[in-house]
This record gives sequence, C-alpha cells and structure tokens, in this order.
Amino acid sequence: MRPEPPEEDFMHDRIRHEALHARVMSASEAAALIKDGMVVGMSGFTRAGEAMAVPLALAERAKHDPLKITLMTGASLGHDLDKILAEAKVTARRMPFQSDAGLRRAINAGEVMFIDQHLSETVEQLRRGQIPPVDVAVIEAASITSDGGIIPTTSIGNSASFAILAKQVIIEINTAQPLSFEGLHDVYIPSYFPNRMPIPVVTCDSRIGTPWIPIDPAKIAAIVITEKHDSSAAIRPPDDETRAIAGHLIRFFESEMAAGRLTRRLAPLQAGIGTIANAVLHGLIDSPFEDLRMYSEVLQDSTFDLMDAGKLSFASGSSITLSAEKNAEVMPHFDRYKPRLILRPQEISNHPEVVRRLGLIAINTALEFDIYGNVNSTHVMGTQMMNGIGGSGDFARNAMLSVFVTKSIAKGGAISSVVPMVSHVDHTEHDVDILVTEQGLADLRGLAPRERAVKIIGNCAHPDWRESLADYYRRALAFGGHTPHILEEALSWHVRLRKTGRM
Ligand code: COA
Repeated sequence: MRPEPPEEDFMHDRIRHEALHARVMSASEAAALIKDGMVVGMSGFTRAGEAMAVPLALAERAKHDPLKITLMTGASLGHDLDKILAEAKVTARRMPFQSDAGLRRAINAGEVMFIDQHLSETVEQLRRGQIPPVDVAVIEAASITSDGGIIPTTSIGNSASFAILAKQVIIEINTAQPLSFEGLHDVYIPSYFPNRMPIPVVTCDSRIGTPWIPIDPAKIAAIVITEKHDSSAAIRPPDDETRAIAGHLIRFFESEMAAGRLTRRLAPLQAGIGTIANAVLHGLIDSPFEDLRMYSEVLQDSTFDLMDAGKLSFASGSSITLSAEKNAEVMPHFDRYKPRLILRPQEISNHPEVVRRLGLIAINTALEFDIYGNVNSTHVMGTQMMNGIGGSGDFARNAMLSVFVTKSIAKGGAISSVVPMVSHVDHTEHDVDILVTEQGLADLRGLAPRERAVKIIGNCAHPDWRESLADYYRRALAFGGHTPHILEEALSWHVRLRKTGRM
C-alpha cells in the first residue's frame, strides 16, 4: 500500500528536488528493486546511520520469496539488522565489517562468507572493478538537496561511493534526524588512478569536499520515509582495569612530553571501537593534556565528554555512535558541537596517506598479543571471527605512535591475553609501538624481538601467567633465531584452552 503523501513543508525541507517527490514509496516497493544475487551497498557504520526499513522489508520478503545478496556496508549495523538478514538467509556474502552475535554465528558456521577488510579499502576495490559492482545502494539521509545531493545522518562510512557507483539508489529519509545535520559532513572522493592527486587534508579540521553526496538524481529510484533512532552503543563504562590502562598511557604521554617528543596538545588521536578504547580516551579528562584533536573513525561518548570537559577542540570521524544517555544529552544541543565536528567517508577518515601526514596517535584494542608484539584483534583461538579488523590496520600501520591495549586476562583469568605466539595475526610486530594492559606498558620502539619479549612479559603479562611466559621464552632461546620459538609448543596454550577451558 502506498503511504499517505507527507505534508508540504516536509517535502519542501526534506526532499528539495521537486521531481523526486514522485519517487516516494513504501519500503516493500523499494525493496522489490533488489533482486536475487545482487550486490547491495547500504549505509551504516558502527550502529549509526544505517538504512533500516528496506533491509527489514527484504528480510520479510525472503520468507516467501527467498533471495540472497552480497551485503556491503561501512561497518557494523544496528537494530539487529545483521542478525535479521542472516537469519532470513538474505546475506550470502558480507563485507567489510560486522559486530553482531547472530551474524558472527553464521560466519563461524560457514553459512555466510565474510570478507574482513581494512575499512579504507572497500571502495577503492569497487572503483577499480576488483570486486563485483554495487547494483543498488540503500542510504539513510536527513534530506535531499535541490540538486539531488544526499545529506547523510550520523555516519558516512562508504555511503558516498556506494551511491556514486551504484546503478540505482534507494534513499531512506529519516525524519527522526535533524535537518541541522546539513554541513556536518565533508564528502571528498579521491581521483582515479593513475592520476590520483594528494588528498588535501592537512589538519583534523580541513574541509575538502561537499557537505552532501553528489549524485545524478535520475539514479534515485525510490525514496522511503522512516522515523528511527540509532541503536545505542554497546559499550560498558570504565572499570578498574580500563582505568589502569588509561593511567599507564597517560603517564607514558607525560614522559614523551618531558622528553620533548609530544606537546600538551599530544598529536591527533584515533581511538578504536569498544569499551577499552572508549575508557582510555575517557581517562584523558583528568590529565594535563589540552586542546586535543581527534582524527578517528568512530566518535564515541568519550569524544563528547572530552569536549564538555574543555579538553578536545576538534573531532573528525566517519560516524557518531553514542550510548542512550549520551545521545539524550548531545543531540538536543547538537548545534553546540557541530562547528567542532566533521564526518568523512571512511576511506578519508582512515586513509593511510592522511594518517601518516597528520602524525596520529592510534589506540586500538587487541584480543591477544604475543611476546614479540604481534597482535590478534579478530580471531578467538585463531579460528572464530569476533568482529573484524575494521580500521585498526589502516591506522596502526601508518600512525606516528601505534598503541594496542587489552586487559591482560580474559574470561575470569582462564585466558592470558599475552601468549607465546598469537593464533592469528592482524597487526605484525612491525606495526606495533606500544602495548598496554592494566599491568603496565611496554614501549617497543627501537627494540629487537629478544628485547621486546623481556619488556612485554615483564610489563604487560598478568602475574598468574608471567612466569609461564618467561619459562617459554627462556627455553625458546635454546633454539636460537632472531625471534626464538619452540614451534611444537607455540600454540599449546590455545590447544590447552580448547581441551580444558583454561590456557
Ligand atoms: N580470547 C578470547 N576472548 C577474548 C580475549 C581473548 N584473548 N580477549 C577478550 N576476549 C573477549 C572478552 O571476554 C569479551 O567477551 P564478552 O563479549 O563475551 O564479554 C570480548 O572479547 C570483548 O572484549 P572486551 O574486553 O569487552 O573489549 P572491547 O569491547 O574493547 O572489544 C575487540 C575488543 C578486540 C573485540 C574490539 O576492539 C574489536 O573488534 N577490534 C577490532 C576492530 C578494531 O580495532 N576497530 C577499530 C578501528 S576504529
């Protein structure tokens, strides 16, 4: 059934391109444009700004008309959409990131083919035709400009390139998001190879593009009107361990300042997703540092807490993902924060060229790391996908200071997060400068593997596991080598965990 036409003012404000008024339709009519086997690029990044009505209509339709799609997004989706689409058997292939327990189960059961990618790379591959093209883009928007430009909502992610490259575009106008989001975004699309020009972001607040996604309005095949709030962030508040991690890192920054390598402004900060990274940033509220800037991917509660505390002057990201409480505080006064914020496409927020140019301090989270500094952020026991590498590799590889944080033990102490050899490598020892647990910090800069092992075991391992790690390392030395290992034993801790429930 066709929805009632919205009121005049609404159409005037939200869909300013008059010819597009005729394309307003129901979610199920719009979802009918998506056919079996298509590649669908949807908005959504860390549970922010995802299109919702069309994917839900697709899952509903699959009950009587089964279909399978390749689903690309910016990053994770909220509102259980990944779970719903996986359970409806709509998602056959998924990229480049997810964080949903239901989809995780389907991925680890081999039912969904998951391509775990550096978040800056997906649209580069699309642009070069290295992966199959997007048939339909489904993008949440606050409004459409008189030229047909799309004003996104709380995330950009990959939305701009999906919309530009797709054959057809479906827009979900979300009336719960304010029109005042216009001007928040900065959409810049890199030029094509071999004539790529430098990306002219030279400071966190550089504006280099347009505040809308420029597309040919003729490609907008459907407009669906929705009213939805983003899912709240699934992060836990800081605890004793995360506060200790923040404390170690802040003392390290202070010593870098004393040595003349950092100033009171530090360097532009990137902080990864999740509870620990959020807590670490939170710790900067009670620190001597000020006039901080962020050049990050996800802006979490801590970004706004730091702004409220007068510590953070500017934040650039690709999405805003808040807890329910923070959302209720921030959104009614969004105009107060807007001049100090930019949301960019994820290929720009995470671009190696820009990350290197700005000299970032990148703080990301490990599941486990080994005695030489290799980091596993994605695979539990080397096999079970957790979320994905996300942007951690984009940042870690190119940052001025690449920091990884984690608690030294997991699952009540049954697991040591410091292991002889990681069971999967996301970030090699070459991309890791600083490791921090609640036990302490290991500064690996300028150290050879043998020197690193001593630092990591001594400073980062939990006391319950420290001696076993030291014993492994001592015995490994007998085999020699630049990076000594007992190959027969290197993964024995993981094997023991699988067999006995404890490493
Ligand atoms: N082995 C098995 N499980 C482990 C583990 C280990 N070595 N270390 C932690 N875990 C478990 C925790 O017990 C917890 O499980 P639960 O959800 O059942 O309680 C879960 O992993 C998450 O750990 P938590 O301590 O709550 O940390 P977090 O919320 O900060 O998330 C990551 C940590 C690594 C999962 C998360 O940061 C991530 O997905 N990172 C990769 C992507 C990324 O870094 N993106 C950032 C770029 S912006």
